[in-house]
Amino acid sequence: MTYTFVTLFPNLIEGYFKDSILKRAIDKDILEINYLNPRDYSKNKHFKVDDTAIGGGAGMVMNPQPLFDALDDLKSRNENIHIVFLTPVAKPFVQNDAKRLANKTHIAFVSGRYEGIDERVIEKYADEVFSIGDYILTGGELASLVICDAVSRNIDGVLGNAQSLEVESFETPLLEAPSFSKPKIYEGLCVPSEYLKGNHSKIRSLKLALSEAKTKFFRPEQLIKHNAEQYLL
Ligand code: ADE
Repeated sequence: MTYTFVTLFPNLIEGYFKDSILKRAIDKDILEINYLNPRDYSKNKHFKVDDTAIGGGAGMVMNPQPLFDALDDLKSRNENIHIVFLTPVAKPFVQNDAKRLANKTHIAFVSGRYEGIDERVIEKYADEVFSIGDYILTGGELASLVICDAVSRNIDGVLGNAQSLEVESFETPLLEAPSFSKPKIYEGLCVPSEYLKGNHSKIRSLKLALSEAKTKFFRPEQLIKHNAEQYLL
């Protein structure tokens, strides 16, 4: 998978790939990361990339010219590129999107800064537009990293242990059961005794009960939305 981050601030993104799982995936040639800065395409003599909004409104909007030229260049060099824009005005990104996008070969993430991107750029170039949640960030860079991370762990070879993808929250409507590590007792706090006894069918039942309780408490709408009776005890 190749990712191209189209951003005015590549430095905000680079650090994330310098350690841990995604760095290992880059070292193994499973992932390749590129950057494209719209400022490098600006025809303005001061390399300006934004202007005030036509029709009024606070803040600056990213101009079409640098982004049109950057994205035309990118598309001319990469036939199968899938272009994703990040903005709070979009459908929310969910786990199914992460799994679906993992099948692409090249994704470009286009991040807006300031008050956003001239809508004509999105109209012309977006294959998809995502929000990562109902809050406003200072730009799309963090959102693009969130999506890139969630997609990458669904690509073969990125996670060490393929099993860890199997029973995760959002793979079913139920949130994942709590996990515990060693020691069995830490500062007087015990791991549930059923987890320790080694009876796998009893552990499964307890985990299901705990999943159900967590889901009812934190995300009750998940149970309603997915008609989750079938998953419950
Ligand atoms: N840019 C600013 N806020 C955002 C959000 N919530 N999701 C995606 N892109 C954004």
